[in-house]
Amino acid sequence: MFYLGVLLSSFLLGAVAQRLDEDLRSFVTLPEVRALRFNITHVDREQVSPGYWFVAPYGQVDPEEPTTKYMQYQVGPYIYDTDGELIWAGSPVTDNRNTFDFRANWNIDGDPHLSFIVQHEYDRDADKGRGVIMGNDYELEREVGAADDLNAFNMHEFKILDGGKTALACTTKPQQINLADFDRPEEESWVVVGGFVEMDIENSEILFEWDSYDKLSLTESVKFIADDEVLNEPGWDYVHINSVDKNSDGDYIISMRFTNTIYLVSGKDGEIMWRLGGKESDFEQDFSFTRQHDVKFVKTNNTHHVISFMNNAADELHTEGEITSALFVELDISSSPMTATVINRMNHPDGNFTRFGGNIQQLSNGNVFVGWNEKGYMSEYGPDGDLIMSARFSSDRYASYRSYKFDWIGQPTTPPDLATSVYGANDQEMITVMHVSWNGATDVARWEFYARSYEHGSDVLIATTNKTSFETMYMTEGYMDWVTAKAIDENGNVLGISEVCRSEVPDWEAVGFAGQSSHPKADDPEILQNIREKLDSGEYGDLYDDNTTDEDRKAAVHSATTEVAESVYKAYGMIQMLENITIGVLTMFCIGGILAGVWYVRRRKMRSYQHLPTDEASIGEDASKAD
Ligand SMILES: *[C@@H]1O[C@H](CO)[C@@H](O)[C@H](O)[C@H]1NC(C)=O
Ligand SMILES: *[C@@H]1O[C@H](CO)[C@@H](O)[C@H](O)[C@H]1NC(C)=O
Ligand SMILES: *[C@@H]1O[C@H](CO)[C@@H](O)[C@H](O)[C@H]1NC(C)=O
Ligand SMILES: *[C@@H]1O[C@H](CO)[C@@H](O)[C@H](O)[C@H]1NC(C)=O
Ligand SMILES: *[C@@H]1O[C@H](CO)[C@@H](O)[C@H](O)[C@H]1NC(C)=O
Repeated sequence: MFYLGVLLSSFLLGAVAQRLDEDLRSFVTLPEVRALRFNITHVDREQVSPGYWFVAPYGQVDPEEPTTKYMQYQVGPYIYDTDGELIWAGSPVTDNRNTFDFRANWNIDGDPHLSFIVQHEYDRDADKGRGVIMGNDYELEREVGAADDLNAFNMHEFKILDGGKTALACTTKPQQINLADFDRPEEESWVVVGGFVEMDIENSEILFEWDSYDKLSLTESVKFIADDEVLNEPGWDYVHINSVDKNSDGDYIISMRFTNTIYLVSGKDGEIMWRLGGKESDFEQDFSFTRQHDVKFVKTNNTHHVISFMNNAADELHTEGEITSALFVELDISSSPMTATVINRMNHPDGNFTRFGGNIQQLSNGNVFVGWNEKGYMSEYGPDGDLIMSARFSSDRYASYRSYKFDWIGQPTTPPDLATSVYGANDQEMITVMHVSWNGATDVARWEFYARSYEHGSDVLIATTNKTSFETMYMTEGYMDWVTAKAIDENGNVLGISEVCRSEVPDWEAVGFAGQSSHPKADDPEILQNIREKLDSGEYGDLYDDNTTDEDRKAAVHSATTEVAESVYKAYGMIQMLENITIGVLTMFCIGGILAGVWYVRRRKMRSYQHLPTDEASIGEDASKAD
């Protein structure tokens, strides 16, 4: 069949074009987005917890120089399911800006929310970046700005505390500091002071503020040492804060990467209550760590804290330990001396290092989820620390500073996106290809496609198909126009309806269309549907004559349906004017025409609808290969 050949070769051309970015997926319904693919390795699929992946791929960690060239959206917040199937591409919202610490929050008002940091622009004066909170309809709810005396919203942390009133963020600020700590009291250097704030998410008001300026000695740093030269602004990054968390006592735990130390800061007076690690640890510990990230409270009571963090054991320049690992550490603060004990350790599955970034998340079912940053590498462990799943971007080009797993319910307010197009070489053999997706919707079980014969005609159900991936493709015979798609959940509820979509048509002359006229007319879905129903009920069982040649049949049937379609179309036009006669009555008039159309559809019924998979190299296949 010629038209199928044309169609297939256009797919093949598409495939060739994609080879240059085969680590990315593109969509007919979301043409501006290129979404990263995942390679997944399941060790024990049964043990994987339910939920969705929250990742924020970026290409380079500092904002790229602006360009006037067109770029598809790639970096930004993305939600995937645990098979690596795209759920939400947030990159159009953040406009290809780097985003960090992208998470779901269930602790605000009982309703699920998203939060993430949009990084400052290349020109910080133009935009210092912000913390963003969205509803599960993907509409903006709040923006939390950087404090006036800071030149950027720090990229490391945007943690919304229980109750959803306040959030924690890290801060950095260049400041001049006297070098008395290095016995050079007559000298001053610029250093980058690290700290944090607790902010009111309503108005960005700062409720608590702390920084290292007069709290942490220069001698604690491994980056700025006693005989180093004096620097101009911004100066030595001597502490490098990279995480903050708060416990129920109201105290803050912070991680300083370049002192190799975790600090507990009093929420009452900002005093340092203890240090874990580094040159001045207050704990007796049977382990060490360096260049750590994402220090979080897991549990806390009067006598003990359980904390989690990543022991990177390396940075961009130096390798300090054997391997990067995710640690759970129990701190006994009632004993003397206080003790720190590793209670769970999960090594980097590749036996390698995460040189910066990374995060650890205790899941509610006891599993642990770890983001290793580089290449979007992330893994899930059972409660006993056994690796059950790992995944990474198919691409070497991107990383995700932190990666999380959360429950999620996404209910976008925008309608589903539908695109339909028609292919065919002659009047008898036309197909309509429909693509549908709904960016962010989690609960679509299947799609119903409807067509009508003119703008205000009535919808006729032309196909139902299960949702199989982010974008669902369905192919139906005939030239369908004025198409809509309905998203249906597993209980049969209609979740959303696309806008009415006119089918895109090729340049008929260029594709060598050989029909009665130089341009085919759309089929009337109602007539086709009526005939199909009659055929299904067996009413016209004996009208089908095996002796008629295929060519005769096509010609006869086509002219019959065209006539019917035209008369129905005119009649519908009258309805619009009269407004009183129901379409049902008119349909009765058309029964004669329907009979004439029977052959036509009878023929077609043999081949009926065809369902094509959306994506020939689907992620699911990759996943099963890797099993
Ligand atoms: C405090 O936490 C530790 C470690 O999680 C636990 O062993 C201890 O029993 C807890 N104490 C109380 C009073 O709950
Ligand atoms: C470990 O990382 C180094 C570079 O940091 C790389 O050359 C090496 O291939 C990695 N090893 C594995 C097993 O991935
Ligand atoms: C991802 O998986 C595919 C198929 O299993 C494989 O060909 C490819 O090399 C993998 N890519 C990476 C980056 O591991
Ligand atoms: C569609 O999904 C339903 C419910 O999950 C399932 O029972 C049915 O077999 C699926 N149909 C197809 C064609 O896969
Ligand atoms: C088809 O033609 C054959 C021979 O010409 C005849 O015997 C048969 O009855 C015809 N079938 C129908 C359905 O008309």
